[in-house]
Amino acid sequence: MARELHLAGFLIASHVTHSHASWRHPGSETDYLGPDYYRRVAQTLERGKFDFLFFADALTTPVRYGNDIRVPLSSGTQFSAAIDPMLVAASLVNVTEKLGVAITKSTTYFHPYDVARVFATLDHLSRGRSGWNIVTSVSQAEAQNFGLDNHIDRDQRYERAHEFVEVALKLWGSWDRDALVQDKETGVFADPDKVHTIDHEGKYFRSRGPLTVPRSPQNRPVLIQAGASSVGKDFAARWAEAIFEIDPTPEGRRAYYDDVKSRASNFGRNPDDVKIFPSFVPFIGETESIAREKQAFHNELADPISGLITLSVHTDHDFSQYDLDAPIGEVSVPGSQGLFDLAQRLSDKDSLTLRDIGKLYAQGVLLPQFVGTPSQIADQIEEGFNGGEADGYIVSAAQAPGTFDDFVDLVVPELQRRGLFRTDYTGSTLRDHLGLGEASLTPIPRQVTIA
Ligand SMILES: Cc1cc2nc3c(=O)[nH]c(=O)nc-3n(C[C@H](O)[C@H](O)[C@H](O)COP(=O)(O)O)c2cc1C
Repeated sequence: MARELHLAGFLIASHVTHSHASWRHPGSETDYLGPDYYRRVAQTLERGKFDFLFFADALTTPVRYGNDIRVPLSSGTQFSAAIDPMLVAASLVNVTEKLGVAITKSTTYFHPYDVARVFATLDHLSRGRSGWNIVTSVSQAEAQNFGLDNHIDRDQRYERAHEFVEVALKLWGSWDRDALVQDKETGVFADPDKVHTIDHEGKYFRSRGPLTVPRSPQNRPVLIQAGASSVGKDFAARWAEAIFEIDPTPEGRRAYYDDVKSRASNFGRNPDDVKIFPSFVPFIGETESIAREKQAFHNELADPISGLITLSVHTDHDFSQYDLDAPIGEVSVPGSQGLFDLAQRLSDKDSLTLRDIGKLYAQGVLLPQFVGTPSQIADQIEEGFNGGEADGYIVSAAQAPGTFDDFVDLVVPELQRRGLFRTDYTGSTLRDHLGLGEASLTPIPRQVTIA
């Protein structure tokens, strides 16, 4: 069977996307606190036969840059306001039938029992369309919102995350598939021999089980991750079935693709079961020059300081202390190493200043921008898909819902015409859309099998 392209849409349950300027764009909805905006985007993506809608999340307002909340609030920096995506997802599964819905949830500030329970519930309510973007969180400010003084260090938070997923798997398996009997005649509700305690006693967690939620349609959510540092990529290679990647250059995307697929093989996995999704922001026009005008209009709205505020959150490092017109320096960051390495690599490659990096961050957190006619955008997707950089793409919006309307109406038909993308759903679960077989509830061993 020919390899199939996958598509997802990116949102934050908020006024912006990756683009910090998106809320100011005339084509953007500002009522992100109500249900209609999300319903509209989800239904548009479903009309375009997308695999899933992805929600990023964070557990703090952005206070890392100069220890200041006033500037991010007044400029509408990413996460200066956001609502809980899990509840948004629950509202969306009632107004869609096929679209997968993937939510970010941290392994650092919740207990596996909570997380296993909400995702099993979402999997039931959506009849098998749930995905979990597993993150370890990045900042001290998040720790402080949850009663801790400091964020735990990288190695320890990943070690904790591994155990977290292992416990969640045990909980999702605590009800056998046929445990629920519900025989009104005999009065037997569930077969007690088919519902199990898990009695987990580990380094970070204890949980007795079973879950209150019977076995869900997909057994569990599709596991999604965005590993970018070396330890993060190993985490993704062990667990993830879909990986969200940011890299602005085709060379970087190809290197990431090869690296993560080979790490997945080292864990004894079939690399085809790990779908890699780089992300981009499209600017689509009837002509290339119209598309370029749209891009320029949007980029003009992006404020470099707003971008540096988010870079400071992502890396958990205060970039307000440096010269804006100097290159980004060698610093050690406790937050996301992967995103910092990317910023530094770009700065070195193109001799960019900190202000330039801030501008790119505000334009779209270093995402590439695909610009042109529908056919030119489809060319870029086809080239990347066939050229070893992607199994699919996460489309991020410069204006929402406008970008999604344009992409679905103009680019999707072109991808379908080329035989790259489905013209209809062939299954009903997110696993079906992604071409994944039945989900295993047995943890992949932690040890890498080949050095
Ligand atoms: C593309 C990408 C998307 C991410 N999305 C989120 C997110 O929505 N929420 C979050 O808390 N962390 C997010 N992260 C952070 C990572 O999942 C991870 O917790 C973080 O990168 C720290 O690990 P690292 O040092 O391996 O980069 C993202 C990272 C990347 C590279």
